[in-house]
Amino acid sequence: MPLSIQHLLGLEGVSKSDITHILDTADSFYEVLQREIKVVPTLRGKTIVNLFYEPSTRTRFSFELAEKRLSGSPLNFSASTSSVKKGESLKDTVRNIAAMKIDMVVVRHGAAGVPYFLTQCTDAVIVNAGDGLHEHPTQSLLDMMTIRRHFGKLEGCKVAIVGDIWHSRVARSNAWGMKTMGMDVTLCGPPTFLPQHPESLGVRVTDNLDDALDGVNVVMMLRVQFERQGTGLFPSIREYRERYGLDRERLSRLPAELIVMHPGPINRGIELASNVADCEQSVVLDQVTNGVAVRMAVLYLLGGGESA
Ligand code: CP
Repeated sequence: MPLSIQHLLGLEGVSKSDITHILDTADSFYEVLQREIKVVPTLRGKTIVNLFYEPSTRTRFSFELAEKRLSGSPLNFSASTSSVKKGESLKDTVRNIAAMKIDMVVVRHGAAGVPYFLTQCTDAVIVNAGDGLHEHPTQSLLDMMTIRRHFGKLEGCKVAIVGDIWHSRVARSNAWGMKTMGMDVTLCGPPTFLPQHPESLGVRVTDNLDDALDGVNVVMMLRVQFERQGTGLFPSIREYRERYGLDRERLSRLPAELIVMHPGPINRGIELASNVADCEQSVVLDQVTNGVAVRMAVLYLLGGGESA
């Protein structure tokens, strides 16, 4: 069954049945990834360009691995080693790459809206791997896959997303996606890190961490994105850690069944204590593992591959 969307630009407006279909397909690919031979022929003959204008470890590697596991042909583009350095525009870059007859583009860019812009420049399928402060849909899908695999459901699960909400495309995609899937979402951070119009996201917002953590099944800590902010958004790292960091003492006051998530990379000792990042309740590395299966599912469903 195909998805009702042609591209994955974000999770805003994506239906519950499409998200469920992606997560079910990702579960099937998760099983494939447990086999000795982890490769299926579903995207044989398809060329996928990984167009990264911003740094990445997890997203870039897992897309490339997903493409290889699907027998697709990945081409990796890095802005820093391309003709972007000679002043070539995004539009010209994409039109020239598309002229080489590629099938899909996975794009990460510092400007919101670039994935949509690319749909106007090429016939290739576009997948958003993070655009500015807008969305990071495959991160949210892998987060939901991790929660669903852990608790067996999403509907009714209560999650607190804590930290630098303002700069977080992960928080925005999760707010849209998790709400669609019937989850109870609270965003928490210092007032300067909170959205100005939270009603537009349809989720609860608070600057009090203890309130946010009351009764939750999942706490997702976000990185303070020092590279995206000027000075003065919070008084000091010490104060931020005390009021919004998750350490052993705070975790010990929460139910043992609660899981701790983080999209990475972690600022150890700031939003997340090192011994919490590595504790039994942490599913941070499960998120990374599930990211390959989710990206296989997205590429397979949008790429029109043959069945596995
Ligand atoms: N979570 C995430 O997007 O990590 P990278 O920036 O390393 O891809």
